Amino acid sequence: MPIIEVEHLTKIYRTQKRLPGLGGAVQGLFNREYTEVRAVDDVSFTIEEGELVGFLGPNGAGKTTTLKMLSGILYPTSGKARVMGFTPSERKNDYRRQFALVMGQKNQLWWDLPAQESLYLNKEIYGVEDEAYQKVLDEMTELLQVKKLLGIMVRELSLGERMKFELIASLLHRPRVLLLDEPTIGLDVVAQKNIREFIKEYNQKTKTTIILTSHYMNDIQALCDRVVVINHGHKIFDGRLDDVVEKFSQSKLITVSFKNGNISKDQLAPLGNVLEYTQVKAVLKVPRDQVKKTSNDLLTNFEVDDINIEEVPIEEVIEMVFKEGDQ
Ligand SMILES: Nc1ncnc2c1ncn2[C@@H]1O[C@H](COP(=O)(O)OP(=O)(O)OP(=O)(O)O)[C@@H](O)[C@H]1O
Ligand SMILES: [Mg+2]
Repeated sequence: MPIIEVEHLTKIYRTQKRLPGLGGAVQGLFNREYTEVRAVDDVSFTIEEGELVGFLGPNGAGKTTTLKMLSGILYPTSGKARVMGFTPSERKNDYRRQFALVMGQKNQLWWDLPAQESLYLNKEIYGVEDEAYQKVLDEMTELLQVKKLLGIMVRELSLGERMKFELIASLLHRPRVLLLDEPTIGLDVVAQKNIREFIKEYNQKTKTTIILTSHYMNDIQALCDRVVVINHGHKIFDGRLDDVVEKFSQSKLITVSFKNGNISKDQLAPLGNVLEYTQVKAVLKVPRDQVKKTSNDLLTNFEVDDINIEEVPIEEVIEMVFKEGDQ
C-alpha cells in the first residue's frame, strides 16, 4: 500500500476583496466579496514507502500548499490526502510523531538559544527518549559536520549551518515521512551540495519517504528519479525525470568541431538551429528525429574533428514544461 495517497486534492483560498479606505472596511462588514485562488486543483498521486520524489513547479504553482495539506496545517477544500493511513487534517498526535515538514524559508528553531538547546526543546516536544536523542544527535551532527557549532546561538549561525540544524531538529523523532520545502534555498553551492548529499544518504540509509521541492534543478537531478510537476495547481507530469526530457524536449544539441577552421555559419544553417558558432566549433539544435541524419550529413560533408550529442539542459526543458502548463 502506498505510504502517501492523494486523491483529487483541492485547495481554494478565499480572501476577502477590500476596497481601499474606511469605506472599504465598512462595506466589507456588510457586503463581503471574496476572491478565490485555486492553489491546488484536483491533484492525485501516490508515493511508495522509501521513495524520494521531487515536487516541481514555478512560483505559485501550489507546492507549499500541497505540502501543508499533507502535514495537516491546512484543510483541503475537497479531495483527500492519506499519509501512513492517517488523514493529516485530523492532526492526531500519532501522526505528528511520524512525519516532519521542513521549510527552507521558515525558521523552526529557537532563535535566541544555542543550537543544542533548541534541539533539546524539539526532543522534549516530540517526547524522544534520551538515548535515542543522543544517538540521532551524534549521528547527524557528524554527518552534517556541525558538531562544533552546537554551542552557538541559532541566530548567529550562517544560513547553511542553520538549515543543517533545522534538518537535524526535524529528524530527531525519526519520522517515516519527511516533507522538505526548498531546503537549499538561498544557500551557496557548497552548502547546497552538503545538504543534497545528506538527504540522499539519509534516504538510502533509512528508507524514509521524502518529498522535496526545490527550484534548483541540481537538487532534483541529483536526488530524484521521479518527479511530480504541477503548474497553476494542476498536475501536469508524474514520472521519471528522464522521461520529462523525452516527452517535452523535441530537440537535442549537436556540438561539432571541425578540423579546418573555414566553415561558415551559412553552410551549417540548413542543418539545424545554430546556437553557437565559431569557425572551428558549432552547437546545433536539431529535432530529435533528425539527429541521426544531421550527424551523418555533418560527418560526410565536413571534416569533423569531434561530434557530441546531448540533451537540452534540464532547466530549459523544465521551463518548457512550465510554459506548456500556461496554455
Ligand atoms: N494563505 C493564502 N491565502 C491566499 N492565497 C494564497 C495563500 N497561500 C498561497 N496562496 C496562493 O496560492 C497559490 C499557490 O501558492 P503556493 O505557496 O502553494 O505555491 P508554491 O508552488 O509553493 O510557490 P513557490 O515556488 O513560490 O514557493 C499562489 O497563487 C499563492 O498566491
Ligand atoms: Mg512554496
